[in-house]
Amino acid sequence: MEKILVLDFGSQTTALIGRRLREMGVFAEIKPGEVELSQDVLKDVLGIILSGSPASVYNGGPAPRPFIYECGLPLLGICYGLQRMNVDSGGLVERLKNVEYGAVEVSMEDGGEPPRIAESAFLNGFPKKTFRAWMSHADTLSRLADGFTLRAKSASGFPAVVTHNKKNWFGVQFHPEATHCECGNDILASFAFNVCKCNKTWSVEKYADEAVELVKKQAGGKTVLLLISGGVDSMVCGALLLKALPNEKTHLMYIDTGLMRKGETEEVLEALALLNAKNTHIARAGDLFLNALKGKSDPEEKRKIIGDLFITVQEAEVAKLKLPGDYLLAQGTLYTDMIESGKGCGKNARVIKSHHNVASPLVAAKREKGLIIEPLSALYKDEVRALGRILGLADKYVMRHPFPGPGLAVRVMGEVTKEKLDALREADAVFINELKKRRVKDGSKTLYDDIWQAFAVLLKERSVGVAGDERKYGFVAALRAVASADGMSADVYPFNINDLIEISTAITNAVKEIGRVTYDVSSKPPASIEWE
Ligand code: XMP
Repeated sequence: MEKILVLDFGSQTTALIGRRLREMGVFAEIKPGEVELSQDVLKDVLGIILSGSPASVYNGGPAPRPFIYECGLPLLGICYGLQRMNVDSGGLVERLKNVEYGAVEVSMEDGGEPPRIAESAFLNGFPKKTFRAWMSHADTLSRLADGFTLRAKSASGFPAVVTHNKKNWFGVQFHPEATHCECGNDILASFAFNVCKCNKTWSVEKYADEAVELVKKQAGGKTVLLLISGGVDSMVCGALLLKALPNEKTHLMYIDTGLMRKGETEEVLEALALLNAKNTHIARAGDLFLNALKGKSDPEEKRKIIGDLFITVQEAEVAKLKLPGDYLLAQGTLYTDMIESGKGCGKNARVIKSHHNVASPLVAAKREKGLIIEPLSALYKDEVRALGRILGLADKYVMRHPFPGPGLAVRVMGEVTKEKLDALREADAVFINELKKRRVKDGSKTLYDDIWQAFAVLLKERSVGVAGDERKYGFVAALRAVASADGMSADVYPFNINDLIEISTAITNAVKEIGRVTYDVSSKPPASIEWE
């Protein structure tokens, strides 16, 4: 399939570049920036984008293989990607005295070398005079390499857009993939369609057919085990496996850690039954997890305990199945999971949190032996949801909000106890139920469907209140609800205050242990979505 290759040098927004292109119907594949490039890897590639990076080119920052400059394909450098191209071509990059961060006005330059046809085709995506770009850089091009022409400057006078006067090489200092960048989509589209001559060949429907064939080929008649977490991704992965492979050869294992949402295990079982799964294995290990967490209140320690115990339980349960030694392990890993845990395309991406679903030794061992199938690893969350629908999963399952691997343990602040877990589970269920009942202003959808992720958190502190005529010293629940495209960044969901007040009342009425409710109004960054 024709595609644009995105070389990832570790920017937090690399995933967005791919996303934007796919939204336009162009298949984009993200690979590590330093990946070996050959004619074979570049088969079907119509253009290459070099991503941004937290590194600096003059400080040993990552570099692409020189072949990229010899292969004759159009190149678009974004931020660090542009700086890389400039330095690799003999130009200079230096540190800025004052960083350019956020919205910056960019002015197109008049005059200079008249653009060639391909340059004009690219520049067609830009406004004629000025626009508001989204910058995030501490380095700048201080001398353009031979052949490059300056086409636009930032308000502080630094190069913002350059083109090459012989080759189809282009560069922008800002991030067209960021939603806040004016004309960002037009700029990416002009590279993809006007320069690279891409066609709109990508759609989830087409991917579904290809994925079924690919999974069949990868499985090659072997037994496949999928670890189901209860979330959308593993459920869709399960649906895909069950469509592609014989049901008898497909094993689905679910570990109930006791840290699940209310009714979660039952819902998983119901969905798997609807998918006609034959080999479903459920391990109920709630007591083990609760015991292991006793007296532990440090967030990373809690995550580690859960991650390690999960692996122990998983290995014991898998051993019980007596699967053939060469069985394949399937995972519903998304591209964004890989990025957030630093396991993604580039080793340059920074580790944010340890996600045990990516790091387990069982997974690592299987990966080493080439016995792993991750059919969703090229997809974004919304594409996974669309794929789930195509595979026949009801909205009830595909529209579920994401849920972290360590479950409610990272939503009970401090030590996890049965009492706190039960109170939180109830409060969370009331919150979610209310969101499913309430609709957005124009009535077009429920609040639940309008929100990327919503949940309740139980704080360590207790607070005084009155219940009836009695003084009450209850728990405090914090509500979190965010709007986001993929969880990488998030905005606070702007509730109508009456909804919040009524939801708060519903929670304190239903959960006697909770005496007070607050709403978390932080965005990501600087706060993360989860509290721990
Ligand atoms: P943060 O809290 O890092 O969350 O802003 C981003 C997204 O990732 C989810 N999350 C996890 N998912 N295992 C997972 O599978 C984890 O350990 C984990 N921690 C956070 C979080 O719910 C949000 O959707």
